[in-house]
Amino acid sequence: MAEIGMGIGTDDGERKQVTVLFADVSGSMDLAEGQDPEEWRKIMQRFFALLAAAVERFEGTVDKFTGDGIMAVFGAPVAHEDHARRACYAALRMLDDVAEYAAELRRGPGLNFSVRIGINSGEVVAGAIGDGGDGSYTAIGHTVGLAQRMEALAEPGKAYLTESAAALAAGFLELKELGPFEIKGASRPVDVFELVGVGAARSRLDLSRERGFSRFVGREREMEALEDALAQAEAGEGAVVGIVAEAGVGKSRLGHEFCERCRQRGIEVFEAQAQAHGKSIPLMPVLQMLRAYFGIGDRDPDRIAREKVAGRALLLDPELGEDLPLIFDFLGIPDPGQPAPQMSGEARQRALGQIVCRLLGAPSRNHTVVLAIEDLHWMDEGSNAMLAQLIDSVAGTNTLALVNFRPEYRLDWGASSLYRRIELQPLGREDTRELLRDLAGEDPSLDGLEAPIHTRTQGNPFFVEEIVRELVEAGHLEGEHGAYRLARPVEEAGVPATVQAVLSARIDRLSADAKALLQVASVIGKEAGARALALTAGLDAEELDPAICELVEGGFLYEAELYPERVLAFRHPLTQEVAYGTQLGERRAATHAAAAQAMIELEPERLEELAALVGRHMELGGETREASRWFARAAHWAGHTRPQDALRLWQRVTALTGELEDDAETRALAVSSRMLQLEYAWRLGMDREQAEALADEATEIAERSGDVHAVALLKLLTAARPGVADRASEWVGAAKEAIRLADGTNDPALRVAVRSAGAYAHMCAGDLDAVERIADEILTLTAGDPSLGGGIVVDSPMSWGLMARSVALRERDRAEEAEALLDQALQLAAEHDDPETAGWARGSKSLLIADRGEHEAALGLARRNCELTERLGDVFSRTTASTALAYVQIAAGEHAAALATIERTDREYREAMGAGGETEAWRSTLRARALLGAGRADEALEEIEWATATAKRREMGWQIPSALHTLALARAATGAPDAEEALDEATEAARSRGHLMTLRRTEADRAVLTAAAG
Ligand SMILES: Nc1ncnc2c1ncn2[C@@H]1O[C@H](COP(=O)(O)OP(=O)(O)OP(=O)(O)O)[C@@H](O)[C@H]1O
Ligand SMILES: [Mg+2]
Repeated sequence: MAEIGMGIGTDDGERKQVTVLFADVSGSMDLAEGQDPEEWRKIMQRFFALLAAAVERFEGTVDKFTGDGIMAVFGAPVAHEDHARRACYAALRMLDDVAEYAAELRRGPGLNFSVRIGINSGEVVAGAIGDGGDGSYTAIGHTVGLAQRMEALAEPGKAYLTESAAALAAGFLELKELGPFEIKGASRPVDVFELVGVGAARSRLDLSRERGFSRFVGREREMEALEDALAQAEAGEGAVVGIVAEAGVGKSRLGHEFCERCRQRGIEVFEAQAQAHGKSIPLMPVLQMLRAYFGIGDRDPDRIAREKVAGRALLLDPELGEDLPLIFDFLGIPDPGQPAPQMSGEARQRALGQIVCRLLGAPSRNHTVVLAIEDLHWMDEGSNAMLAQLIDSVAGTNTLALVNFRPEYRLDWGASSLYRRIELQPLGREDTRELLRDLAGEDPSLDGLEAPIHTRTQGNPFFVEEIVRELVEAGHLEGEHGAYRLARPVEEAGVPATVQAVLSARIDRLSADAKALLQVASVIGKEAGARALALTAGLDAEELDPAICELVEGGFLYEAELYPERVLAFRHPLTQEVAYGTQLGERRAATHAAAAQAMIELEPERLEELAALVGRHMELGGETREASRWFARAAHWAGHTRPQDALRLWQRVTALTGELEDDAETRALAVSSRMLQLEYAWRLGMDREQAEALADEATEIAERSGDVHAVALLKLLTAARPGVADRASEWVGAAKEAIRLADGTNDPALRVAVRSAGAYAHMCAGDLDAVERIADEILTLTAGDPSLGGGIVVDSPMSWGLMARSVALRERDRAEEAEALLDQALQLAAEHDDPETAGWARGSKSLLIADRGEHEAALGLARRNCELTERLGDVFSRTTASTALAYVQIAAGEHAAALATIERTDREYREAMGAGGETEAWRSTLRARALLGAGRADEALEEIEWATATAKRREMGWQIPSALHTLALARAATGAPDAEEALDEATEAARSRGHLMTLRRTEADRAVLTAAAG
């Protein structure tokens, strides 16, 4: 097996969202002079130790010592969703600790020290520096420089934040805005903030509350379950409910809404929550809970606090009196008169646990209480143990313990008979829509936003809120909260920094194998087969399975299919985006290339189908040559069945060849990709200038490499392609020249292909002999091979030849033979996958049937043909089909419908092509006919005069007789003079060209007109 795999787990750096903190002890340099160096070193070491301790306390990484300070990173190597908050807490701690030590130094040796801190959040590239990745871990990027600038800017004793750090920390921390500053290295002034202290918000939900909650939607069933549990607690049985869901799904909000209901009914609610950065503060949630329970405020003096505790505790259970010193001590309000007993940490914790349980189970307490504890997944060991104790003691009390946590948390007490678990699901489609309406409003311009937002967020309300905020900030939405309108279309919306922080923190908690596999999966796409994953990642089955298992269990991926192969898909598009975006470009490129190789190896039977995807991976993998080959392959495959795709793919090939070395292969691709774009140009429409530029470039390259083949085709595609030459004679001349050039190559495929387009030029010029001759040549050259020459102009030239011959025969008034040929053409086109020619043949057949007077059948076929060509997506086939429909509608006497059809067709054609094309006079003639039928003779006359003049000017011999014929009818209907002259001219035009069908019709009308006149 080829070497494809990436070698999983190679750690060569990642892009990460982090907060960088710089701190330095200022004034130190001047002071160093008068100081004994040894003494000095000690002092500095002590400072460094204080700074480093503050960083470690909040799980940051000291990146380096800078001489008189440090640089620290929060959120790398392991991502933390609250990286900015952690940095701020660390900064506050530094300011406090350094101030304390500085005061000591001022009192002692009389030295003056202070610390300055700068904080910035943003993306860095983090990883080991140095060859082979054995250097030390560090963060690099503009984000780092800006943090350092903040430090330089800060006044002594202060911490300054940039706006991006402030945006993440606001609410959790108290900040003071200092206004914009010009910063070296920043393209625009940066808003700077000073860190003042801890803010009021404890959780993200507090922050949402502060901003104004969005309307609470859905969750009826969950509310019912909570009410049930409450009823059970009120009945004295006790209840424990755990709400489980990923970040942002709405655990806290549901709990909050429920607790509010309880409070309104007079039920006491006590809340506590574990903090992401709080694992290292033992028992913090317990402390919080007890403070809430005793109603101690932040500003209560110790004595008052002690009185509150003692009052309530003794009321509940007089026996608690003995434990008061321990409770005081734990709550940080020790009573100097009654010191807490000496005991080991573990004993103390057990004792506290018992006290908490006693409080809950206190005999005198007979009213219902709700204990709400949030975010158990962040709880420290001690609190966890205490919680288990507490849950045990809930039974038989009036307590409802309501907890929430993310799925990764393993509970020790899940077996408790009182416990019920609510697996909170993301919001459904309807609820998401309602939330979005509440956030953004109902302006019609927002209509297109709902579906993509739902797809991206998968109903996670936090993500929905953040994405709306991001769209507002990026200027996509204008207006105000709840009443926005779309100001700028959203093509590519980034992942909001807050959402990214949450998701990358989850990803970083994975094992190394699982994380690397997730990254590989993100490169492959939304879905990946297990074998492709293994091959791309370079894993064998034993390594792959546990990693996949971890990813599935962790809710990152799900098994989209199990048979015939296991296919894994991202549960959340945002996870894929983050996993993709955090990889370094080079590594990602290598994975793309490996993914392409894996596809080639694994799916040899589906390569045509996968070619575009392989090409895309090759391109992103930096394999430009391979990419252009695969795109060309994909474009051929898309062929005429999906012309839009084919055009897009050929454009990619042209663009890629521009980056390649100029050799024979590159030139061939450069020419053919341009030629094939031109091919599709007349079907799909293309700007004239763009088409000409393509043709000139291609001709230049083809001539340079002596490619006669290509030059012949280019001739055809430029001068001879429909719609370009104004007059049919020029077009026919170019077609002849192209045929001559093609014949010079002796390549039967090219000779056939060029003839199919050539026949069309003659057809429009009304030269039936030439059409038949060329059709015969096509049939001779293909010698029964329906695919010979396919894919150049049409997919089955043989089918096209039969069809062209049939059109000529119809004009010669040999309908039966014409129909037999059409049936043959249709069958061939179907067998050889040429839906374009099939569309033409079906349209022609509907005309024949209509001519016979079988209007219902003709209408049915013409409508069906419109449906089928609609799927092809090219304007050429589509308008040809609807023009045929208009003809049939006129024949069936449905003039109003015909008028609508032909007007829509003409509009569509002109919009796509920027001109009326070679069939404009024909469409105009049909419009005049429909107007006549609808009794709008004056308008009909005006229209047909234009059609006649245009057909003549452009020498469209095929349209001239019928235009003149219609002109005569319109003149007669309006009483305008010279109806007879027009009729004579029509007769002559038809006779001289051998258009016997039109001749017959003209003569029939002459009889009617003469009778009417007489
Ligand atoms: N049912 C809902 N209706 C409207 N908004 C909601 C709903 N549920 C949640 N939200 C909003 O979505 C955001 C995230 O919700 P919440 O904070 O409750 O998530 P969470 O599951 O607790 O996440 P985490 O695990 O990070 O704590 C909040 O701003 C919240 O107000
Ligand atoms: Mg929460």
